[in-house]
Amino acid sequence: MRLSRYFLPVLKETPSDATIASHRLMLRAGMIRQQSAGIYSWLPLGYRVLKNIERIVHEEQQRAGHIPMLMPTLQSADLWRESGRYDDYGEEMLRITDRQGRDMLYGPTNEEMITDVFRSHVGSYKDLPMTLYQIQWKFRDEVRPRFGVMRGREFLMKDGYTFDLTVEDGLHSYNRHLVSYLRTYERMGLQAIPMRADSGPIGGDDTHEFLVLAETGESEVFYDSAVTDIKLGQRDIAYDDVDQCRAVMEEFTSRYARTDETHDADLFAQVPEDRRRVARGIEVGQIFFFGTKYSESMGALVVNDKGERVPVQMGSHGIGVSRLLGALIEANHDEKGIIWPEGVTPFPVGIVNLKQGDAEADAACDALYKSFSALGLEPLYDDRKERAGGKFATMDLIGLPWRITVGPRGLKNGVVEVTSRRSGESEEMTPELAVETIAKRYATL
Ligand SMILES: Nc1ncnc2c1ncn2[C@@H]1O[C@H](COP(=O)(O)OP(=O)(O)OP(=O)(O)O)[C@@H](O)[C@H]1O
Ligand SMILES: [Mg+2]
Repeated sequence: MRLSRYFLPVLKETPSDATIASHRLMLRAGMIRQQSAGIYSWLPLGYRVLKNIERIVHEEQQRAGHIPMLMPTLQSADLWRESGRYDDYGEEMLRITDRQGRDMLYGPTNEEMITDVFRSHVGSYKDLPMTLYQIQWKFRDEVRPRFGVMRGREFLMKDGYTFDLTVEDGLHSYNRHLVSYLRTYERMGLQAIPMRADSGPIGGDDTHEFLVLAETGESEVFYDSAVTDIKLGQRDIAYDDVDQCRAVMEEFTSRYARTDETHDADLFAQVPEDRRRVARGIEVGQIFFFGTKYSESMGALVVNDKGERVPVQMGSHGIGVSRLLGALIEANHDEKGIIWPEGVTPFPVGIVNLKQGDAEADAACDALYKSFSALGLEPLYDDRKERAGGKFATMDLIGLPWRITVGPRGLKNGVVEVTSRRSGESEEMTPELAVETIAKRYATL
């Protein structure tokens, strides 16, 4: 992508209504535009990151054996009357009447609809276990939409639903989700800690929230600092292996880690004092096993191997896809702007031409552009006729992990400059080595 042909409406001024870094930076970097309270347009740069996050979520869900599908945003109120949640859900639900006078709603979540899909098409234990998921927009009429995409009213969520014959199978599905979520966040360069959560209106006992530690987080969290030392890393996970998934779940959840909703001061006091931490966190996902709550009320039954009709065991599992952009920026920025982890960056590398119009510099930039493109790495090439300072400021603001600076002086010695956005360190090398060095960084993602 050539910057001269792109749409990157960078703001010079800091927007006054944005109180936290991620919101400010997303506006300044031209990633989003607010259209109403808590409702945003995703401008091209923001859209690219959103798509990258979606892609990682899809890949990790499918690696775990989960099946993608798509349900509509608008739902019939009748489904929610069956589960009893139409009246319970309250003012967060956006209720709509169509021209025939039918009660509709913009889905805040999809347990009812997926239960309807399941009961209409599945009737035997032989079809289980099954996990269906989607990445779809949700609407919740939050009282206080704030912090940009972090607490929007319209937001993108991955929501997955598990169907199993027995409680034990249902718990395996739960553990499998926990592991797949750990992997998903790690691939994005984020540490999200599973913390025991409160089940709230969905009901059920087994539930964890995944929290990213950040000063601007909305939840107060209490944890044993030892939880931050565990990483999933590159280990091989066999998602059908019940014992392995349970072992990983236990490894990640046996230390004390809770939000204020479930915090237990007596238990916390048993954590060695030097490891007790009180901090703030951003909830980027939640997993639930709630058993037969919806299958009983909505009649989602399967025939077991004895020929009996029993309610299916269910769970629901969510990742805040659009909120993750905010969480990622909260965890990765400095005073100059965003610092994207390589897993989600909108462009893998930026090329800055210090002397646009100089035949040699232009040719060197074009050659770099071609080499990266041939490797499947699309650079953002700043080919505008602007001062170097302005170009560097834009690159720092939008936070691409690598910048290659090309100018006549370096080219005389056969070199370009490679700069890491995170460390700020620069190194001169031949254009060929620059391509090789940067490509290597992306090869293992
Ligand atoms: N208003 C929102 N804006 C953006 N993302 C959201 C919003 N509400 C929820 N999410 C994301 O969707 C995920 C799954 O939804 P869930 O029903 O668990 O949310 P929740 O527990 O009600 O969230 P919260 O407690 O933050 O209101 C959450 O973990 C969060 O990351
Ligand atoms: Mg939640």
